[in-house]
Amino acid sequence: MLVRDSFHSRIGFVLAAAGSAIGLGNIWGFPTNAANNGGGAFLFVYLVVTLLLALPALYAEIYIGNQAQKNPVSALGEACKNRLPRFGRFAGKAGLCGAIMMLSFYTIVAGWMLSHALSAVTAIGGLTDLSNWLASDSTLRNLLFTPVFVLLGAAIIHQGVHAGIEKWSARLMPILLLMLIGLIIYILQQDGAMAGLKQYLIPDFTQVTDPTLVISAMGQAFFSLSIGVGGMMVYGSYMQKDKDIGKLVLSIGALDTFIAFLAGLLIIPALFVAQHAGQQVFADEKLIGEGQLIFKILPTLFESMGTVGLLVATGFFSLLSIAALTSTISSTEVPVSYLVEEKSMSRKKATWLVSAVVLTASMVLIAFFEALFGIVIQVLTTIMQPLSCLFYFLVVGWIWNRGNKLTDKSRLSNDKWLWVWGNYLRYVCPILLTVVFVNVAF
Ligand code: PHE
Repeated sequence: MLVRDSFHSRIGFVLAAAGSAIGLGNIWGFPTNAANNGGGAFLFVYLVVTLLLALPALYAEIYIGNQAQKNPVSALGEACKNRLPRFGRFAGKAGLCGAIMMLSFYTIVAGWMLSHALSAVTAIGGLTDLSNWLASDSTLRNLLFTPVFVLLGAAIIHQGVHAGIEKWSARLMPILLLMLIGLIIYILQQDGAMAGLKQYLIPDFTQVTDPTLVISAMGQAFFSLSIGVGGMMVYGSYMQKDKDIGKLVLSIGALDTFIAFLAGLLIIPALFVAQHAGQQVFADEKLIGEGQLIFKILPTLFESMGTVGLLVATGFFSLLSIAALTSTISSTEVPVSYLVEEKSMSRKKATWLVSAVVLTASMVLIAFFEALFGIVIQVLTTIMQPLSCLFYFLVVGWIWNRGNKLTDKSRLSNDKWLWVWGNYLRYVCPILLTVVFVNVAF
């Protein structure tokens, strides 16, 4: 019989889940999206969407996994067994594809982090040409660094040790936090920063109903909290049954949102500082060159700090690579847990198989970068993840009727809070999500 690996404490779970949530989505995705969508208006909508929809979705995802104590395909299959037996498993497999999609572009961006970290190290060593090449944007660089990152992830995952990665995230995340705060203090003293700060903190309320802004904020919130691909469901299944999930969800949400907020506080003023210094950053209030830009703006910021800047750059990009690694692990765990539990594959074999698939997918993305990269991100975050979340709401509110406290009438009538929460998940969340979705589509 297969003995399932598990987290040994609540804090172990929170750290691993926060490790999954905190990643490039916070430091690369959030500020890019915010800068592109009016700054403060985006921040405002992001916070509202996180509270009203993303945290409840995170709760639903973790709750399903925790009760089933199984991989996402089996967990959803089980929860839907009485009413939609086939569809539950199908949705689980769709999530699995979502996880692979996420990994296909995520490992490319994570590869950029690695190469930027190495670029700073080589600059310290005086290897200027190599350093410049590592920081420049080229297909060859992507072809080299994406596999390195995939291998790094696989090496950790195949051991099946949650403890290793948990311990490392616990040690390294506080350093990332301190570094962010230090950089924010530095950037806010530069000329032009205040305009950025204003843009970020004072919302223009005429923009908050813009459908593109709302759907981007929702996609960003779901992506940032790692919901809708099964990663949190797997982690929930590795936690002892019947823990008080609500509090854990709040801690994960608070940590993740705080880091995203800080990243915005650093990067949006940094963009305005660069603009003030004569760099062309925005055209028609939109970022020029999107994602890549962050890799141009931040290095300029580090350069302006002199030699210390190189050390800061090394630390910053290394920590980001690690943050990306802990996020990659939770996504990879989705197909790996499925193959191990349902196809009786060894953990090692499953890890290498999944890594090979991910690597192939990311190579295709690199080869057709212009055509595919943005689309894959868009499809995953604005279509697949929200639809999965809608399904999770329907599962916990309606479909899953045995062993589910949220659909158990006698429990609901005895517990006032459970009644409110159950009905919120049952009625308000699916309707709200559908309204946002339909509004954008039409
Ligand atoms: N939440 C991670 C980030 O913000 C990305 C992620 C998405 C991880 C989906 C797992 C699943 O970077």
